[in-house]
Amino acid sequence: MIGNYYIQTYGCQMNVHESEKLAGILSSRGFSSCDDVSDADIIILNTCCVRETAETKVYGHLGRIKSKKKKGAVLIVCGCMTQRRDVAASLAKRCKFVDIIIGTFNQYLLGEYIDAFMHTGERIVEVWDSERDDGKARPIARTSGVNAWVNIMYGCNNFCSYCIVPYVRGRERCRPVDDIISDVRDLLESGYKQVTLLGQNVNSYNHDGVDFVGLLKLLELDEKYRLKFMTSHPKDFSLALAERIADSSVLAHSLHLPVQAGNDRVLAEMNRRYTSAEYLKKIDAVRELVPDIGLSSDVMVGFPTETEDDFEDTIRLVERVHYNNLFMFIYSRRSGTPADLMPQLDYRTKQQRIDRLIKAQFEISKSLAADCVGKSYEVLVSEKKNGRCFGKTETDAAVSFVSEDFDVGDFVKVKVTAAKNANLMGEVE
Ligand code: SAH
Ligand code: SF4
Ligand code: F3S
Repeated sequence: MIGNYYIQTYGCQMNVHESEKLAGILSSRGFSSCDDVSDADIIILNTCCVRETAETKVYGHLGRIKSKKKKGAVLIVCGCMTQRRDVAASLAKRCKFVDIIIGTFNQYLLGEYIDAFMHTGERIVEVWDSERDDGKARPIARTSGVNAWVNIMYGCNNFCSYCIVPYVRGRERCRPVDDIISDVRDLLESGYKQVTLLGQNVNSYNHDGVDFVGLLKLLELDEKYRLKFMTSHPKDFSLALAERIADSSVLAHSLHLPVQAGNDRVLAEMNRRYTSAEYLKKIDAVRELVPDIGLSSDVMVGFPTETEDDFEDTIRLVERVHYNNLFMFIYSRRSGTPADLMPQLDYRTKQQRIDRLIKAQFEISKSLAADCVGKSYEVLVSEKKNGRCFGKTETDAAVSFVSEDFDVGDFVKVKVTAAKNANLMGEVE
């Protein structure tokens, strides 16, 4: 079958990678990707439901796509949002122009669903409660430049009280070590310079007795490449992992360790299973072993029952750690989660808190960027535009520099010469 597909992705890296798998299914069937939804024969919205804003976006886009899509185009909604049966049902009712609605567990059968729809012309709404064909090899149409994503596990067992992910992605499943290693080898052979291992909680990886640190050791391959991973849950982050980062010749010196909040009562209500002191101890340990480590985190404000003092604890923690990069969210109610049943804060309070947090972090990012001036880093170039190279340091800071000699995929020694807010500029050493 010949035609074009258009995929819109919402949500996390996990979903971005899922979209690469959906694209792989379509390209193996002869479809090519296109950038304009009005050219597409197959339109896919791969959705997220981690916050209400993600869902609102999907409904907004659906309205626009309805008027832009060409006659006969097949419109598919899949992913985390439609994995929720109630959402799939209400979407089916509200948006009669959507042809196929499937969830996360059955989206690997995308090709079969499209065939069935083409054959019968009858719309399909099908959601499964669990995966029936875990780890099945699928073609992947990668879109991420020098970086390639590799799942090491799926799902999550943690049930943080605010979070919908375990309900839409199922329980934790780890991929076999050999599959992961052979994926990474193949990717390096085909020219990728960076691999990012994906899992909701990579620190609890375990397959046939090989734990996450063991897996990382096995990925110390001879080739020159950069290895990253996300996400680490602080409760499972070990000293052994910090040592691995310090000793490794391939691991980036960066760590995403989402803290969520700085107050111990709130952390307990969130079911995070660590205290702020335990968290800070781990941060100090990794900083001691890897002094140049680039640290990032997720923080939420306005969790149910969060007081002004509780929020002050979050600000204090953020100022104490000095994150290079911080992802800040307003708590969003998710039905079916325990936090949805707790007393909620008003919108204004949440908005004021996020504004204050954003301001505090802006100053931190600015001062950390200024500290980089005069220092040298190894930059992996991921983009080149009009003679200017853009890339990331081993500590995960974004740097740009002008060069005739280097191009996408090169590792370049760069000296940072200026910082403009959080943006670094440099020159080749
Ligand atoms: N598994 C990862 C991240 C999953 S979701 C982890 O545990 O860190 C990414 C981020 O979205 C979370 O870290 C959290 O900060 C945020 N998030 C999750 N549920 C949310 C909710 N209901 N409202 C607002 N932010 C939420
Ligand atoms: Fe959600 Fe917590 Fe699992 Fe992360 S660890 S996906 S925040 S339940
Ligand atoms: Fe990711 Fe959103 Fe699903 S954050 S796992 S796409 S709910």
